[in-house]
Amino acid sequence: MALPAPQPLRPRPTQWPYRADPPQRYWGNYERYQQRGGLVDLDADIAGFVGHGNVGDIARFYFFCLAFDQICKDGIAGDLAELGVYRGETAGLLARMARRMGRTAWLLDTFAGFDAADLTGIDGGQSKQFADTSLETVRALVGEDSTRFVAGHFPASATGLPENRYCLVHIDCDLYAPISAGLSYFYPRLAPGGFLIVHDYSSLAWEGAEKAVDDFFADKPEAIMPLPDGCGSVAIRKARSVAITEAGALGSLGSSWTLAQGDAVRHLLGPGWSGVESWGVWGVGPAHELRLRLAAGASDRVLECDVELAVAVTPGEHFVDVMVADRPVARWQFSVGANRGIRRAVLPPGPPGGEMVLRFRPQATLRPCDHDRTKTDNRPLGMALHAVRLAA
Ligand SMILES: C[S@@+](CC[C@H](N)C(=O)[O-])C[C@H]1O[C@@H](n2cnc3c(N)ncnc32)[C@H](O)[C@@H]1O
Repeated sequence: MALPAPQPLRPRPTQWPYRADPPQRYWGNYERYQQRGGLVDLDADIAGFVGHGNVGDIARFYFFCLAFDQICKDGIAGDLAELGVYRGETAGLLARMARRMGRTAWLLDTFAGFDAADLTGIDGGQSKQFADTSLETVRALVGEDSTRFVAGHFPASATGLPENRYCLVHIDCDLYAPISAGLSYFYPRLAPGGFLIVHDYSSLAWEGAEKAVDDFFADKPEAIMPLPDGCGSVAIRKARSVAITEAGALGSLGSSWTLAQGDAVRHLLGPGWSGVESWGVWGVGPAHELRLRLAAGASDRVLECDVELAVAVTPGEHFVDVMVADRPVARWQFSVGANRGIRRAVLPPGPPGGEMVLRFRPQATLRPCDHDRTKTDNRPLGMALHAVRLAA
């Protein structure tokens, strides 16, 4: 059977009416923008961004500018990171903003192009690319002030990062394996309200990028937002705390996600947890308890938890037993590729209006300092809780 004739390439529509307008705050209302302490200096910032590969992709530039403005407006704490730097065009913009915001930009790349180990599976047909760069040339372009370069193959290179919070993470490394690894590493470390931007999702040029994002966000509370830039980036903003409506000595839960941050979750926590942090809370030691109060007569309620298991950074299958009154109600499974996600347990009927204690028993704990000698954290970490809800 004859193949259909190839379609002629459609030329890039760059003229009116296809050309996008710049955001008004950067031109018509620029004075008002500056009076409000505007961060962006349009002419200076655009120059480095369009040095080579980003010419024409001005929508991408404006999205970064608006994201930085929103981070300042919302007061989102944390550093900036980019996985996939190449020649430093987007990295240069991140570094500039980090200087103005008093943060650090962490820039990760092999600085020698794709690694052969990543050119497998869905990316088996891709060729080695982006080797025409070097750490020295990027350093010269981007500068060193408020900037840290982390050279090497990711995720192994993540050992060069401190345990950190991020307000904005840009993942631009095209291939399934490093994008998946980048999402697994940075998502839990993203500050509430922080931006996570992944390049190449909807361009139809990088199947691995699209699949890595779809796989990762399939079980997360946040959904992706497509952006109208040249290579089809997507973005999410990390979910923030949801207020609990009914206060009390024992925890009450609703069908909305309650993020395990700040005061929202403190009243649910029994023994076996470390201090609540800005992203959630680590369970420590052999058992961690949640104390819930279910509505009178409630039965077959499904508890959903967004959880992460510390020991699941080591090979093999790892388990957490979920118990109610010493009776097992679920066994949750984790592994290196699935050490974070939503897990469910059907709760037995509780005493009407009374307390139900859920006990999570990880089969093993992990002390970060034993696993990675650059770390000083010696807590015996079990299962981390990021968010919890009763499914409707
Ligand atoms: C498209 S380029 C980045 C372009 C850059 N963000 C820009 O817009 O100017 C992709 C980069 O990802 C890097 N990369 C891909 N896989 C990687 C991995 N496993 N570890 C580190 N860097 C990787 C490549 O070396 C390459 O420089």
